[in-house]
Amino acid sequence: MNNPLLDTVTNNNIDTLIDPRTLQTRISELAKEITIDYHNKELLLVCILRGGVVFLTDLMRQIPTPHLIDFMAVSSYTDGRTKSEGRVRITMDLLTDIEHMNVLLVEDIVDTGYTLRQVLELLKSRSPRSLRVCTLLDKHERREVEVYIDYVGFQIPDKFVVGYGLDDEHGHWRNLPYIGVART
Ligand code: IMP
Ligand code: MG
Repeated sequence: MNNPLLDTVTNNNIDTLIDPRTLQTRISELAKEITIDYHNKELLLVCILRGGVVFLTDLMRQIPTPHLIDFMAVSSYTDGRTKSEGRVRITMDLLTDIEHMNVLLVEDIVDTGYTLRQVLELLKSRSPRSLRVCTLLDKHERREVEVYIDYVGFQIPDKFVVGYGLDDEHGHWRNLPYIGVART
């Protein structure tokens, strides 16, 4: 059977950038920080679909205190990867009313920063008690708009990464248990 995706896996065309153990170690450090910072505060983790979902589910299981989760989805008007035009559209909104909530936005990656900036503006307009950002990956070199990030898992170089929730232009590779870089 001719399956190009399987061929790529078999040829081992993805180099590991961050292995599963390193991911889990860092995520449990982040979770500890978050647990302390939100001690006795009602916390809502807001995950941006779909890339953030793997990170969210690992992160939340390392936060032992009660908290809520909710999801939203956004899409770029352009392809959102190579040249983001800086405009994003909400394709799925939260179910939770976030007014008076302590919201922590959980992102897979911050690249140019346009997506994050727009999502933050939208959430801010709903008057949460507090609003912070946690991203697993930060490609700081690519930043076009300054956005403050409270919790960063890893700073990574300017390379297109896949795995652990992150996909390529075909929607593939989200299921890899590590962060990888496609060999070109
Ligand atoms: P930004 O608006 O440029 O910060 O990019 C936001 C979105 O682009 C992220 O949430 C990802 O969905 C996607 N993205 C950026 N860099 C990568 C990458 O290296 N791999 C996979 N997706 C990426
Ligand atoms: Mg994303």
